[in-house]
Amino acid sequence: MHYWRTRLRGLGIYAFTQAPTLGVDTQPTGVGAYVSSAPPHQCIRLASQFCGTLVHDDEGIILLVFKTYSYFERTKDSMEIRKVGVIGCGLMGSGIAQTCAQAGYETIVREVAQDFLDKGMARIQGAWDMMLQKGKINEEQARDYKNHLRGTLDTKDLADCDLVIEAVIENMEEKLRLFPALDNALKPEALILSNTSSLNITQMGAVTKRADKVCGLHFFNPAPVMKLVEIVRTISTSDETVETVRAFAKSLGKTPVVAKDTAGFIVNFLLIPYLLAAIRMYENGLASKEDIDTAMKLGCGYPMGPLTLLDYVGLDTTLWAAEALYEEFKEPLYAPSPLLRRMVNSGMLGRKSGRGFYEY
Ligand code: CAA
Repeated sequence: MHYWRTRLRGLGIYAFTQAPTLGVDTQPTGVGAYVSSAPPHQCIRLASQFCGTLVHDDEGIILLVFKTYSYFERTKDSMEIRKVGVIGCGLMGSGIAQTCAQAGYETIVREVAQDFLDKGMARIQGAWDMMLQKGKINEEQARDYKNHLRGTLDTKDLADCDLVIEAVIENMEEKLRLFPALDNALKPEALILSNTSSLNITQMGAVTKRADKVCGLHFFNPAPVMKLVEIVRTISTSDETVETVRAFAKSLGKTPVVAKDTAGFIVNFLLIPYLLAAIRMYENGLASKEDIDTAMKLGCGYPMGPLTLLDYVGLDTTLWAAEALYEEFKEPLYAPSPLLRRMVNSGMLGRKSGRGFYEY
């Protein structure tokens, strides 16, 4: 029998049980304790589903769900995460900060300028308003989420974070400036994770004094919705760091996979050549953009066609990823096409700039 430990944020109650099955008592109840031997993703699903109700198995009550809760799966090899920092409140940074705040972590997001911060925070608030409107959360939950999140322009405010995720621009020089600054600002035991989609994380770790506490945690856009995260292990990352990040990823409701620190990791190694092939197909006039998208949606069951996905991800992001892959492997299939380069140079970045393969 596996025992999972749950810590209830704010109230700090720990408990264990070995109840193997779960049922639901529809009788509403107030605030209570949360205990289960169910695996973490099941706990989270149950907790969000039955928030404020009593859940039990045949032998009696095993579960009372707190209105705000946070799940931690801890093994002896992982450290506890309470406070999370996010660097960058752009498309990915804001999605990551939203995800962490929703999971109950005290979350602080740092930007370099007030207008970037305001824009990112407004995006997050917009997502919560949308969830409220759709009835996916109630007003109290929306307030709870908001209370868990705060913005700053000062890296020093992240000093007591247990884990920091950087999601700044995909530019190695920028990251190599940021990592030593974080290394100096954070407490020694804090982990520093990069959301880079293709840059070398080993190099980022090497400019800190804690390379063993550095690894990748790559989210997918939209971060609050997409279930996967890639944990990217460098040659210096310790086992404890990987285990802590694995447990952290699960506590966010994500499914982690572990990849080596090679350009593109798992997903982009496969996805980028596909997206580049779609651009070449369109560029060479082999089919219309609409037909290329329809073909892959309906022929392969993908949620979006490749050109719509390119606009969604950002053409600049795709170009940087392709360049990093080409730099590492020198394979023609990773070479960015002239059209992609020209579109990026002319500011057609996709949804975020209002124009890419389509207009928004
Ligand atoms: N916060 C919370 N919920 C959100 C959200 C947010 N920011 N954004 C969307 N959602 C929710 C919506 O509320 C909706 O929920 P319900 O179904 O319960 O109503 C759900 O997500 C789906 O959203 P929509 O109804 O707006 O739209 P959709 O059904 O067309 O799905 C999509 C949109 C999830 C983006 C889907 O089209 C999809 O999966 N597309 C593919 C995305 C993809 O491949 N991403 C990976 C890109 S690669 C990458 O990111 C890595 C890289 O390095 C380049």
